[in-house]
Amino acid sequence: MAAALDLRDRVFCVEQGVPKHEEIDGRDDEALHLVAVRDGRVIGTCRLLFVDRTVQFSRLAVDVAARREGIATLLLEEADREALAAGARRMVLHAQTYARELYLAAGYEERGRVFVEAGIEHVAMERRLA
Ligand SMILES: CC(C)(COP(=O)(O)OP(=O)(O)OC[C@H]1O[C@@H](n2cnc3c(N)ncnc32)[C@H](O)[C@@H]1OP(=O)(O)O)[C@@H](O)C(=O)NCCC(=O)NCCS
Repeated sequence: MAAALDLRDRVFCVEQGVPKHEEIDGRDDEALHLVAVRDGRVIGTCRLLFVDRTVQFSRLAVDVAARREGIATLLLEEADREALAAGARRMVLHAQTYARELYLAAGYEERGRVFVEAGIEHVAMERRLA
């Protein structure tokens, strides 16, 4: 968990300039956290929050040295498996618009207009499970 939080801090706060109080929003204790590990190091992470039969997917971050190798795609696939196993029907997320292709390729669809969150352009996306 400490390694996942450290990666999130480096990616969201240092690299993207998101304020720490927005990155750490008080919901980590109730979430399921997934990590990608290589050579004993956490190189990717994401978070799933379960609300009835909907999963809120967020905090997807991959170490800058491990990008464009499919790590985020693998985390999205694992998130689907965990959500299905928990009986969820729907995944929802706020995608940074520059990365929307990642989610489109994973079967997500855009919902509504582009908006700004933590100073970054986002669009809501969702995917039905099974
Ligand atoms: C976005 C992020 C999680 C992607 O992780 P990744 O492991 O590099 O993603 P993948 O290798 O699985 O990428 C799959 C596809 O997503 C799209 N994609 C990924 N990174 C992209 C980028 N920087 N710009 C545009 N498209 C991108 C591409 O279509 C890519 O396929 P390709 O490599 O064959 O072109 C990573 O760049 C990151 O941590 N960024 C900073 C934090 C962030 O923006 N998080 C996402 C919040 S929505």
